[in-house]
Amino acid sequence: TTPPTRAPQPESQTQKTQLSQTPPSVRKKGVKDFEFGKTLGEGSYSTVVSARDRTTGREYAIKILDKKHIIKEKKVKYVNIEKNTLNKMNHPGIVRLYYTFQDPDSLYFVLDHAKNGELLAFIKKLGSFDLNCTQYYTAQILSSIEYMHSQGVIHRDLKPENILLDEKMHVKITDFGTAKIFESNADGEEDARANSFVGTAEYVSPELLKEKAACKSSDFWALGCIIYQLIAGRPPFKGTNEYMTFQKIVNLEYTFPEGFPPVAKDLVQKLLVLNPSERLGSGGNAGIEKLKIHPFFKEIQWDKIWEMPAPRLL
Ligand code: ADE
Repeated sequence: TTPPTRAPQPESQTQKTQLSQTPPSVRKKGVKDFEFGKTLGEGSYSTVVSARDRTTGREYAIKILDKKHIIKEKKVKYVNIEKNTLNKMNHPGIVRLYYTFQDPDSLYFVLDHAKNGELLAFIKKLGSFDLNCTQYYTAQILSSIEYMHSQGVIHRDLKPENILLDEKMHVKITDFGTAKIFESNADGEEDARANSFVGTAEYVSPELLKEKAACKSSDFWALGCIIYQLIAGRPPFKGTNEYMTFQKIVNLEYTFPEGFPPVAKDLVQKLLVLNPSERLGSGGNAGIEKLKIHPFFKEIQWDKIWEMPAPRLL
């Protein structure tokens, strides 16, 4: 087991005073309240480590962010976005943020520990998912997207690495470090502001590459790529390098492998549409409702998806 990148620093004097005078239920949590375990994931300026609350025994995943590195790389804005978006969300399909604290070197985000890790690992292990499993996971991902959009959040980097699975094999979406909070302009179809952020090459939408603008609909493009990948075992657009991948995306250059189920093909073709306002799911609530009644979801009971047991992956 790998220890966290940096040894947790001692609490400040004010926190020590707090420790001795405030009952544990009210006191702000700190590094000392947790027993750190193994590393679950590593990002460019953060490490996610499993941890156990010493008083309750509850298991969490703690994201440890290196302050110096964040400042040097000018990522302060993104760290704030991650904290602010996670703080306003409360949904079974989205990783919950329980506490935040810091020491002189690091910021700590105490999150749900999704015991079964990344969806990507299951795609790699199994090669691909059958139609039934794809429908189940797509429905949970879509339900989570619907919720985050209703809270004014666009994820902008949806991909199988950011879709975690909990102990019940239910979806928990994570990594809101590149999300965007949009001001309440009805349904935010298009955002005028230019944006320098580009997500992961294979899942990036054509509007982000061409207009440097992401909208809610960009998350539905990524959903189309994910559905394709669950069934085909690989993402639809993959070049030998990022530039070649981007070329394929803006030219809508992809094909379906033989045996791809027609109902899934129809849905993917309606999501992988170059014009974001013509993409299935766009157009606010009415758009999402249209997406949810696509024949691909005909066996899905939308009001029960978080109670339904996960199908066995084969
Ligand atoms: N890897 C990154 N974040 C994680 C989390 N919250 N739970 C489990 N594994 C993770």
